Amino acid sequence: MKAFQMNERIKGFEFGTPLETGIIHGEKTYGQHALPFEIDLEEGHGYLSFHLTENDRVYGLGPNMGGINKRGRRYEAYCTDDPLHHEDKVVLYGAHNFFMIEDDEVATGYFIDFPSRIYYDIGFSDLDDFKIHIHGEDFTFYIIEGASLKDIVHEFHKIIKKPYLPPRWGLGYFQSRWGYRDEAEIREIHQTFKEYKLPLEGIYLDLDYMEDFKDFTISKERFPNFKELVSDLKDEGVRLIPIIDAGVKIEKDYPVYEQGIAGDHFAKNAKGEPYIAAVWPGKVHFPDFLQEKTQDWFGEWYRALTDLGIEGVWNDMNEPAIFYDEDSLDEAVTLAIEAKGKNLGVLDFFELKDKFQNMGNKDEYYRRFFHNIDGTAYTNEAVHNQYGYLMTKSASDGLRKLLDKRPLLISRASSIGMHAYGGIWTGDNSSWWSHIELNLKMLPTLNMSGFYYVGADTGGFGGNSSGELLSRWMQLSVFTPLLRNHAALGTNNQEPYAFGEEVARINRKLLGDRYRLIPYLYSELLKRYHHGGLMFTPLSFEFFGQEAQDAEDQLLLGEELMIAPIYKPNGKGRYVYLPEEMALVDFKDQPELTVLNPGVHYVSYDLDELKFFLRRNKMMVYGEASLNEKSMKKDSLNLLGFVDGEATYTLYSDDGLSFDYEEGQVSRTKIQVTKKDNGDYKISVENNHIDLKTITLTLVDANGEIYNKEVRV
Ligand code: GLC
Repeated sequence: MKAFQMNERIKGFEFGTPLETGIIHGEKTYGQHALPFEIDLEEGHGYLSFHLTENDRVYGLGPNMGGINKRGRRYEAYCTDDPLHHEDKVVLYGAHNFFMIEDDEVATGYFIDFPSRIYYDIGFSDLDDFKIHIHGEDFTFYIIEGASLKDIVHEFHKIIKKPYLPPRWGLGYFQSRWGYRDEAEIREIHQTFKEYKLPLEGIYLDLDYMEDFKDFTISKERFPNFKELVSDLKDEGVRLIPIIDAGVKIEKDYPVYEQGIAGDHFAKNAKGEPYIAAVWPGKVHFPDFLQEKTQDWFGEWYRALTDLGIEGVWNDMNEPAIFYDEDSLDEAVTLAIEAKGKNLGVLDFFELKDKFQNMGNKDEYYRRFFHNIDGTAYTNEAVHNQYGYLMTKSASDGLRKLLDKRPLLISRASSIGMHAYGGIWTGDNSSWWSHIELNLKMLPTLNMSGFYYVGADTGGFGGNSSGELLSRWMQLSVFTPLLRNHAALGTNNQEPYAFGEEVARINRKLLGDRYRLIPYLYSELLKRYHHGGLMFTPLSFEFFGQEAQDAEDQLLLGEELMIAPIYKPNGKGRYVYLPEEMALVDFKDQPELTVLNPGVHYVSYDLDELKFFLRRNKMMVYGEASLNEKSMKKDSLNLLGFVDGEATYTLYSDDGLSFDYEEGQVSRTKIQVTKKDNGDYKISVENNHIDLKTITLTLVDANGEIYNKEVRV
């Protein structure tokens, strides 16, 4: 074991010969300090455990089931395609090994840099024992100290790369569905959004746009005029975002396949031949994204889309998901042939049934194919969690060169490190009420891992949505940077207009509100790019006490707001815990502000309302409802403030498209408001945002007195 120090707050310990994952950057000074607990190495695996006192809380671990406090459950870090997010699932698409343990006095953060499986048992088998099992002996263990949980997150963000920033249009509303058949249907959807006067920023294209599920092809039959379609829609402010899957179809004369073979780009089996797995296109090879040359090669293939006017992509099935592989199919078929004509006993019958049913994503598949890292072969299992991350890096590098502006890019599989290259959607959720709550709870945890451009399939992917469920989900998703309504093939339609006029009216109001929130949300993303930290913060990170710890279904947003969505059917309102005095905002055209005392309040909340809370001596900005980002007004903004003393808000903005923000080209509008003794307000604005000309302020004080003023800036 080698000990090192990165700075006063961060030290680490290398075990064996860890792989370079590219996640952590910064100087390491090797030294002598001791590991404050034991990590046992047995038969090539690492084991450690933390004793949990009664009040210890555990946070982190990325996109997972369960609460914000991760205690009381088991988890596994190993990117996995599982479309049924039931309560007992221990692993989903992401493997994020950052976590923090906090008792009433101190908190400590940890990060395990290791690309394969890690098992966490956080007081599940033993109430007071947090056990970690690392499935290998080459890893780096980081210990991060800080004055608070928020502080630790900040420290962690300093040693990982800066996060991905989408183009500003990426904050608009996106419609998606697996099963939008052809060009005519895409045009019809666009038309229907127009007729209903519903905002639309883009339409995601699922597999249906491809020729036989082949990456970088367009179906000539269903999308004969693809380029024209892209350009017609873009003229109206609507972009198309096609899907790209990890597996490359094995087919003679298909250029991606042919080039992949010629350039030695595919992961190999034990015999050194390209490994064959089956996914949507049938038999495929997997690009070996662990090789830099393959990242470059695949990244360049996005040209096939950018040449047609595409500016955003979603990378899917990149855990990588495997429906079956040749060996397992042969085994199952052999068993079935043997069973033919026999009177099967129940055990034999179930064995046969399970052989077919459990053929997807079997552990052994990931030991049957190999990646080439600088001439050494690693099983996929050994580097598994790097796969989706490096596919996304490949896309990001490629698109950056091809477009010379920010692409929209999201991926399903993820690990920390990928946060620098793309956002994520949380995978195949279902149209279940509990998944609204799950969506809410994942937000701060994803921020801890450095992911900000995140969102769930609004309305739910699997199963059938109802109008009520969709609108309630929207009331949460209007706050998430990625806002996409996506559904599985064969489920009911769930576009915002699919449930009749009344639901369409409600969704029009909510989506309009989303566009009003974009200046604020986008500023949040720019702030997180420059300063790290959380965009969505659990109440317990900011306030002491059991109530704050228990209120996991409310989140702070930015420094200013608190959200408390409804995630139960037939709700007309909900109880909300206010850890401090706040103003309830009913986000009408002219928002209404009601000051509420700390404590628990029942807040009525109708489907066609958007409600949230503004913290004391805080302010936020908002714009106007709009049908897309392109038509958003840039010269005026509104400001809402709950000011009973002094408040400052700084709005960050930029051109929304270029990479200039990386060089610090960000405009800041600093608004300061002080309440004077005579009840009047002193307002000052420092503005270097060239387009912004007026700000209309609505302020409320602790007595509920409203003050309106328009200022030129
Ligand atoms: C996967 C994706 C889903 C997509 C489907 C078909 O299940 O997670 O979003 O619709 O594949 O491409």
